[in-house]
Amino acid sequence: MPKIKSLIWYLNNPKYLGHALRVLKSKVSKIEHSRIEAVDWASSISISNSEFCKKHQIELRVFKEDKSSRYESSKSLADAVDFGMGGAGNIDLLYSIVMQLKPQKTLETGVSYGWSSLAILEGFSSLEQRLVSTDMPYVGMGNDDAVGVVVPEGLKNQWQLIRDEDKRGLPKALELFDGKIDLCHYDSDKSYHGRMFAYPLLYEALNDGCWFISDDIGDNIAFKDFCKAKGIEPEVIVENGRFVGAFRKNV
Ligand SMILES: C[S@@+](CC[C@H](N)C(=O)[O-])C[C@H]1O[C@@H](n2cnc3c(N)ncnc32)[C@H](O)[C@@H]1O
Repeated sequence: MPKIKSLIWYLNNPKYLGHALRVLKSKVSKIEHSRIEAVDWASSISISNSEFCKKHQIELRVFKEDKSSRYESSKSLADAVDFGMGGAGNIDLLYSIVMQLKPQKTLETGVSYGWSSLAILEGFSSLEQRLVSTDMPYVGMGNDDAVGVVVPEGLKNQWQLIRDEDKRGLPKALELFDGKIDLCHYDSDKSYHGRMFAYPLLYEALNDGCWFISDDIGDNIAFKDFCKAKGIEPEVIVENGRFVGAFRKNV
């Protein structure tokens, strides 16, 4: 039944047919099933949010405590449209990095309810800072209106949401920043092939010294492979059993 629902969704949304083909292809690819190897590797080098922040002299802040009333009102908005969409990334980490490093141009992939977008926007301290996010809706869910629902109107003047899949959305997003970004948060297509398409584009665009953060790197071995190919020594942060990969470009 869910497969039929997805098929109908793709037929009603033909611009995503290319995505359907890539999903089918990835089902038979062995490398997509590298979770055990990825988790073993990530576990072997992972540190907590607080260890990571201490190491990089970033003040670790707890979003829910700093912005308690915003958190509560956004939670009510998310509860009201509960679609069972993907949960929030490591928002304390993102919020802390943004608060401290004040990136001008932030690009994130994958929005869902918009918790990471909210944390980034709330971390901004100047009107010059901008966030561009890309997101395609969950296949077959009919959740288009709920994407980014936790972000209040008052924060949207510094935010642009591109509703498209990474293949088309990322080049559009990068164009809005003239091809250069100061912070990247990857949290959309978690497949090996999806990451291997997006990581190089985002890496190229990232300015030297800036942070690249990728969520759920325990899903498969893509983050490790990408870092190895580029000669990057990555760091891994674990919170609530989920692994986030991070590195600073050319540092
Ligand atoms: C885990 S959720 C994002 C959570 C969000 N970053 C947060 O922390 O609150 C992943 C989102 O990425 C979207 N997505 C998945 N594959 C995608 C693709 N190929 N292109 C664009 N968006 C995609 C999903 O539909 C979903 O909205």
